[in-house]
Amino acid sequence: MEKSFIMVKPDGVQRNLVGEIVQRFEKKGFTLAAGKLMTIPRELAEEHYGEHKDKPFFENLVSFITSGPVFAMIWEGEDVIKTARKMMGATNPAEAEPGTIRGDYAVQVSMNVIHGSDSSESAQREINLFFNEKEQVDYQKTM
Ligand code: CMP
Repeated sequence: MEKSFIMVKPDGVQRNLVGEIVQRFEKKGFTLAAGKLMTIPRELAEEHYGEHKDKPFFENLVSFITSGPVFAMIWEGEDVIKTARKMMGATNPAEAEPGTIRGDYAVQVSMNVIHGSDSSESAQREINLFFNEKEQVDYQKTM
């Protein structure tokens, strides 16, 4: 089953949006395979956002994502990577449709509440960066 790495960013945790976001994914029909509240160490943030290291906003991005706890998750289900991106809405909340998570809860591109993997390669990479095997539920073995 396809898996995606989804993370409620520090602004979303601070604004008590974790429950709302988890509920949207549950109600959609996806399955939570891992979840933890954590403060991201700087090295992990730099690696996670490595593809943006030459961008002018990189430093802000790293300091923001390490500024407070995030809620990191693995969600699984059919086409979860693409569907989660639709549920999240455009990266820039000004372009995100109402009804999407960013469309409903964010106004700034730098504080856009949620991150989700954009491809199967990045999902695999991000899952491995944030979770070890023991932290992940294997529903095929447990149910
Ligand atoms: P995310 O999906 O976590 O992936 C990279 C992040 O960079 C993105 O969400 C935005 O929050 C952030 N980002 C993109 N463009 C800008 C920008 N121009 N200024 C600040 N942050 C940005």
